[in-house]
Amino acid sequence: MGYDVRDTGLAGPGRGRIDWAAGEMPVLAQIRERFDKERPLEGIRVAACLHVTTETANLMEALSAGGAEVALCASNPLSTQDDVAAALVEQSGVDVYAIRGEDTDMFFKHINACLDIEPQITMDDGADMVSVLHKQRTDRIADVIGGTEETTTGVIRLRAMGSDGALRYPIVSVNDANTKRLFDNRFGTGQSVVDAIMRATNRLLAGRTFVVCGYGMCGRGVASRARGMGAHVIVVEVDPTAALEALMEGYRVMPLLDAARVGDVFVTVTGDKGVIRGEHLERMKDGALLANAGHFDVEIDKRALAALSEGRVRAIRDSVEEHTLSDGRRLHLLGDGRLVNLAAAEGHPAAVMDMSFANQALSVEWLVKQRGQLEPRVYPVPAEIDEEVARLKLRGMGVEIDELTPEQESYLRSWEEGT
Ligand SMILES: NC(=O)c1ccc[n+]([C@@H]2O[C@H](COP(=O)([O-])OP(=O)(O)OC[C@H]3O[C@@H](n4cnc5c(N)ncnc54)[C@H](O)[C@@H]3O)[C@@H](O)[C@H]2O)c1
Repeated sequence: MGYDVRDTGLAGPGRGRIDWAAGEMPVLAQIRERFDKERPLEGIRVAACLHVTTETANLMEALSAGGAEVALCASNPLSTQDDVAAALVEQSGVDVYAIRGEDTDMFFKHINACLDIEPQITMDDGADMVSVLHKQRTDRIADVIGGTEETTTGVIRLRAMGSDGALRYPIVSVNDANTKRLFDNRFGTGQSVVDAIMRATNRLLAGRTFVVCGYGMCGRGVASRARGMGAHVIVVEVDPTAALEALMEGYRVMPLLDAARVGDVFVTVTGDKGVIRGEHLERMKDGALLANAGHFDVEIDKRALAALSEGRVRAIRDSVEEHTLSDGRRLHLLGDGRLVNLAAAEGHPAAVMDMSFANQALSVEWLVKQRGQLEPRVYPVPAEIDEEVARLKLRGMGVEIDELTPEQESYLRSWEEGT
């Protein structure tokens, strides 16, 4: 067994937090219990590149309970929780290669260490592991049965690989399951981004102008939670339908060049690059906060910010970098422009990751069952799995719902009855 973590002595506090998250993850717990009995992943080698958080720890333990041999590395250099990494190594037999704050070389060294186990399943969040496997470690592809992908940006990259004919094995897009994107992206990102901004800055949001760039699944969550805190929310979009939806939801919609002058807080969550650029930064008010919640740290142009502040930069609080412009205005970059909810807080609450990771665990089981029968392309999570996760989640929350009567079922299937 190999590992590379900050300090295995942190395992104690890590365990407490992993157990705390487990209390909010009833669906994954039920899957883990069944995996423990049925061992559907016996001997399967899984290499996972995910945020190393308490929720991920619960997923790794569920896969191990199913019989898998698991290696884990980070999907972002700033999202690792070192105590969780330690607990997984010390107590769960997972090979973890992740240290919070690792540099780019170490980040890729750790991905390669996971690939050394010759995985049969890859589990990615952003498609960096798949990308390394396809570009540099093609010797490791032959054994791979399939993979899963957790986030929008990863799915976009994988679809691009598919249409270029570059993808060599099937990958399940966990991100697109309803029980993932409607909850994790919206309520998870919504709550944890606002939480991260508050933890990092302790600024009051009520009465402030809060600009959300990107009104997709995540942006909707961030906008609604910021409004819930009493902020005046402006949405910036490039898609006319999304912009219209934001407008009818009651937000102001305008180009970023206009929003730049009035915003107090800016959050990018588009999956795109160069969203906040020099021309926007130049217009911002003294004290503005800049945060990114999109997958990569390319949404806020950090180079343009550095060029404007010409070295007048200081770490003013944990996760807050103050950039002073030549006229004295200060702009504050949170979490180094990386996923703010993971860099400056703990990521999504466990209750939503319960559903995302239930989809992950069941998709891995499905891939193993389908071994050799799938094409090298992106597959959706099978609808039965998605619906089962919703059913189990409702049950876990103690909520019952109605069922169609036989008469209603036949009415909904028929076309003869009308006016
Ligand atoms: N922080 C987290 O924990 C977390 C969680 C899930 C997803 N993500 C990431 O967040 C990003 C967004 O995910 P999503 O599911 O909301 O995607 P999405 O595709 O549903 O929405 C993205 C939106 O951004 C808009 N957009 C694109 N370029 C833009 C630009 N230049 N200016 C303004 N708007 C622009 C698009 O029109 C779209 O409406 C992705 O990178 C995804 O991987 C982060």
